[in-house]
Amino acid sequence: MSRTAYVNGAYRPLSDAVIHVEDRGFQFADGVYEVWSVFDGKMADYDGHMTRLARSLTELRIDIPMTRQALTRVLKETIRRNRVHNGIVYLQVTRGTARRDHPFPPEGTPPSVVVTAKSIDARKSEATAAKGVAVVTHPDIRWGRCDIKTVGLLPNVLAKQAARDRGAYEAWMVDEMGLVTEGSSTNAWIVDENGRLRTRDTQANILKGITRTTLLEIIAEQGLELDERPFSVDEAKRAREAFFTAAGAFVMPAVSIDGVRIGNGKPGPVATRLRSRYLEVARRDAV
Ligand code: PDD
Repeated sequence: MSRTAYVNGAYRPLSDAVIHVEDRGFQFADGVYEVWSVFDGKMADYDGHMTRLARSLTELRIDIPMTRQALTRVLKETIRRNRVHNGIVYLQVTRGTARRDHPFPPEGTPPSVVVTAKSIDARKSEATAAKGVAVVTHPDIRWGRCDIKTVGLLPNVLAKQAARDRGAYEAWMVDEMGLVTEGSSTNAWIVDENGRLRTRDTQANILKGITRTTLLEIIAEQGLELDERPFSVDEAKRAREAFFTAAGAFVMPAVSIDGVRIGNGKPGPVATRLRSRYLEVARRDAV
């Protein structure tokens, strides 16, 4: 089946879905994005992602392209046209098209809006999670505003490729102090030597993951001990469990870090339980 994308007001076959060569997203990475998991054709953690989108746009002074209601319609229609049952929907909003010049374009330049959706084989991702995945560490070389979900992802791309080159699934980025910041497209977690859940606080220069936020609610509901505090690579390697969270990955157990086996080298009980509860909650609340 041919896929369809929404581009600036029209639904087009993917092969004809194009943006202008002077789109600022292309020329300057001057744009933001959001990603929703789709369950049974419905979007998970809907409000969280919408609210973060509005914040990213405001922080970068990009105009809100359309009402939330209209945007919801476009997201849903793109999911429908692509017959996505289980998968992902992506939204990019850029500062629009204008003659290439670094300062913002003239007031009133409309933002560009692109929406795409793709199916994911749920059985395959469950099989991956059941086995767990390898993580490698990589220096965090990003800018100082990683709280904004911008399309400027080159350091993340390089980190992810470094992971692939080393046969791993995800790269955990590390600051100059040897502390893990986050994954190249995920938030990083451990169950430390003392059995306490740890994830870095979001005052630091990382993305406040929406999956992370939902998981914090689940952790509170389950009465688990949590420490929102950075951990070092050494602590992660000594941890009982390691895992990461993101739209699409949900809660993904990591069974090795830089080739060092975590726990008994299998997904741990905490990560496994949190994944299944997250999936339950996300599916239940999807819209
Ligand atoms: N990535 N940290 C980074 C750097 C990310 O890019 C992402 C998401 C996350 C997790 O955020 P959330 O739970 O809201 O998905 C953390 C998306 C999935 C991507 O780039 O495809």
